[in-house]
Formats: sequence, C-alpha cells, structure tokens
Amino acid sequence: MCVCRDAYLQHISAFTYMQDWNMKPDSRHNRENQRIAFAGLLVLLLPIFSPNLFNPLARAFPSLFSEWNAPKPRHLRLLQGALRYQISDRRQSDLWSPLANQGWKPCVLPKNIPSLPKKSQGYIQVFLDGGLNQQRMGICDAVAVAKILNATLLIPQLEVNPVWQDLSSFSEIFDVDHFINALNDEVSIVKELPSKYSWSTREYYATGIRATRIKTAPVHASANWYLENVLPMLQSYGIAAIAPFSHRLAFDNLPSDIQHLRCKVNFQALVFVPHIRLLGEALINGLRNPSKSQVIWQGRVLNAQFTDEELRNQGRCPLTPEEIGLLLAALGFTNNTRLYLASHKVYGGEARISTLRKLFPLMEDKKSLTTAEERSKVEEKASLLAAVDYYVSMHSDIFISASPGNMHNAMLGYRAYKNLKTIRPNMALLGKLFLNNSMECPEFQQAVQDGHKSRQGQIRLRKEKQSIYTYPARDCMCQA
Ligand SMILES: *[C@@H]1O[C@H](CO)[C@@H](O)[C@H](O)[C@H]1NC(C)=O
Ligand SMILES: *[C@@H]1O[C@H](CO)[C@@H](O)[C@H](O)[C@H]1NC(C)=O
Ligand SMILES: *[C@@H]1O[C@H](CO)[C@@H](O)[C@H](O)[C@H]1NC(C)=O
Repeated sequence: MCVCRDAYLQHISAFTYMQDWNMKPDSRHNRENQRIAFAGLLVLLLPIFSPNLFNPLARAFPSLFSEWNAPKPRHLRLLQGALRYQISDRRQSDLWSPLANQGWKPCVLPKNIPSLPKKSQGYIQVFLDGGLNQQRMGICDAVAVAKILNATLLIPQLEVNPVWQDLSSFSEIFDVDHFINALNDEVSIVKELPSKYSWSTREYYATGIRATRIKTAPVHASANWYLENVLPMLQSYGIAAIAPFSHRLAFDNLPSDIQHLRCKVNFQALVFVPHIRLLGEALINGLRNPSKSQVIWQGRVLNAQFTDEELRNQGRCPLTPEEIGLLLAALGFTNNTRLYLASHKVYGGEARISTLRKLFPLMEDKKSLTTAEERSKVEEKASLLAAVDYYVSMHSDIFISASPGNMHNAMLGYRAYKNLKTIRPNMALLGKLFLNNSMECPEFQQAVQDGHKSRQGQIRLRKEKQSIYTYPARDCMCQA
C-alpha cells in the first residue's frame, strides 16, 4: 500500500467549468481592468480512501490522522510564486477553449440488423463487487456475455462493498427501464427470474457448492470460454450464475458487434436514476451560476507535528491537494476560478486542503451547493455519491484527474468518446519538478505548461489488453 504524507487521499480529480464562457466576447472585454474575463469554475473531485482502510494505522497513530496534523505547505516558494502569477488572457482563453474536432466520433450502427435471438438459451445472473465504476464495467460485460450466449440477462446484482458499505441496488442507481429498453433490440433483460428459478439467490450460492454457479471464470476470458463452459450449463439447467464476475471478459479478439454492444451499454444504456441526475443538475447550476453573496472561506492554518518525510513511505503517491493546486495555477487557472470538492468527506478535515484553498479560495462542495433535503436520498451512500460525481464530471468543460483509478478511467473513456477536454497530469514530470528544490517559479510554470501540451484530451487509440471503457477509439468510435 502506498502510504503518502497524505495517505488518506487516494486520488484527486479536478474538473472545471467556465462560468462566463457564454458571455459574448465583447461584453467580456468591456469589463474594465477586470481580470474576470475568464473567471472560471473549477470543480475538484476528491475521492478519498475510506478511514476503514487505515484503521490499523489510525489506531496506532491517532494523532497522525487528525485535523491537527495537517501537513505544512511543502513547496513554499512555488506557492508564494503561484499566488503572484500573472496569467495572460490568451493563455486563459487557450486553457478554456473546447477541444478541436479530432476526426473521431461515436460509431453509429445500422439499426436494422435483427439480432435478438429467437429463442433464449437460458438465464445469466451475475453478482458484481467493487465500487460503482468497477460494477459499471461488469454490467457492460454481462450484457456482452448474455449476447455471446444468446441468453437472457437478469438485472445485475450489486454486492455490498466491504469498504464503502453501500447497500444500494442496481435500480437505486441506474434507470432500469431505460437500460432494458435501450438494449431490447439486441439482448433480452429481465428484472426478475421466473418463479421456477426463484431459488437462485445470493444466499443459495453463499451456503454451499451449487451446480449452477460458475466460480472459476478466468480473468479476461474469451468468448469461446463462455461458449464451452457456460453454454452447456445453460442447456442443462436453464440458468447460470457467474460470481465473481469482475473483469471476466477479454478486451481483445471479440467480434465488433460485441464490442459495439459494450460501448452502447456504457455510453447509452446506463443512465442514473432521476434523483441523481436532478441533484447533479442542481450542483452544476450552482456552480455555473453562483449567487452574488457567496462567502469566501477563511481557513485556519494549522501546524503539522510530523514532517512530510515521516509520513511518507516509498511508492508512487498521488498528487497532494497542495501539488494539484500548484499544477492548476501553473497551467493558468486563476484564483477567481470556482473550485468544487466532490468528495463526501475530506479525511483529516479542512486543514488538509488549506493550501489548495489559498490558491483557489472559491471552493465549494455538495453541502454548500445543495440543501439537506436535496441531499437526503444520497447521504451516507457511497455509490450514489459517486454517481453524482460521475454525472457532474460528465458535464464539465475540463476534467483533470491526478491519479489512476476506476473513476479516472471511466471519465477518460467517456470524455474521449465525447471529445471533451481532459488534462492528464504528467506525474513523472511533476515528481521531478517537485523534488527539485532549486526550481524557481517561472521555470516551474513553463515546464508544467510545456509538459502538458499534448495531454489535454488528444485521442489515444486502445492498445492490446487495454480497456475499451478507458480507450473507446477504435472499438466505440469511428473516423469521421
Ligand atoms: C445465437 O444466435 C445466432 C443467430 O441469432 C446464431 O448464429 C448463434 O449461433 C447463436 N449462438 C448461440 C450460442 O446460441
Ligand atoms: C485573487 O488575487 C488577487 C491578487 O492577485 C486579489 O486581489 C483577489 O482578491 C483574489 N481573488 C480572490 C477571489 O481571492
Ligand atoms: C533543478 O532545477 C534547476 C533550475 O531549473 C536546474 O538547473 C537543475 O538542473 C535541476 N536539477 C535537477 C536535479 O533536475
């Protein structure tokens, strides 16, 4: 495990909006002496390690995880410089402009190919573990497996994640009717098993060895593996329950109609339930149209009792809030950029992000942008909170993610599919820059800008073994 000085922090993603983007160019320039022209809104997503993961550590060193041990700014000189950056309008305009057309678009498939099998081979049931984004990939793969087998798919069952403890079911996260209808030309999907299979439940499989359970599907199994191992079971029993199912279908050597189907599930059939979309919309509205009377947060700055080095272990660490702040500032995001923290809890408290707030004082979160009533349906539910973040990320103008993970991958894929700007931090470069204590601010800024020119959403074709959900070109995308 990578224990960093900010060990609580798994990864940070930031995505940004430009609040004034819709203003007419001349009204933008009419504002005298105001650098507000490119006043943007920066939304920062901070998925955080659950405190549970750190229980042993937290018990042994409780003070290490408290608000009172927030790390001191580590790069004081860069920070002081960043607070004084002058960013040209030209730079900001480049930063905020949407991606140019790259010659790729989502593939539109001919609709008239009748592909629903006349007779179903039986029922496929899958149990999905992991967090929301891992389950999402599992859902796409389950539809593809049902298609390969000409089987009927039961709405996938989501397992309770041991870390997040969220009991939400498929239908509490995704719009089931939309899911079934969007796919009904190609795969038949049911909400419940017919009563003659009602015995086929999670409890049934948990309490004994059962003939209808596939327990040994290899990671990234081929289509043939399913035809050879699962089809006979369907033919004998009429049902097959596959668990575990995460990452159980290969990304390579599958017919293109199966790949297209996976893309269709991921990018079209899976939409969130209305209350998640509404909450997402409320956040987006609050971010794009801030009220005039907003309060600028005045943070306490606390002294750290441990040095950064004491808290850091070996291993590749994600960027800290301070580092992502320095990165964003060097890229040209200014202090009137509104920044949104999408994590439901910042472990270790406000002090952990105080340096980031120095650079971006207009910071918001779900609480500041919605009422308790609006949040009531998602509060304390990790998957639903993640779904809201996902929704807001889908609709942002710019997305920045500082560390790999399922959410990061899912967003990279979605945004590539939609040709939306996505800045990928150059971790190797940043690691080198942050280690160099003799780096002056202008050099840092220049190096950061140079090192991110080709990391803003340029299409990268999927390579062998890579996920089609992260790299949708060419499987899901066609050249225009
Ligand atoms: C599924 O149906 C198609 C025709 O609709 C057929 O070509 C294919 O062999 C079937 N596969 C299985 C496993 O039943
Ligand atoms: C941004 O920085 C300028 C000085 O560079 C300061 O005058 C202004 O108040 C700051 N804006 C915010 C929102 O903190
Ligand atoms: C650190 O930065 C300075 C100034 O840019 C540069 O001259 C020096 O070579 C760098 N040191 C390393 C180890 O990269």
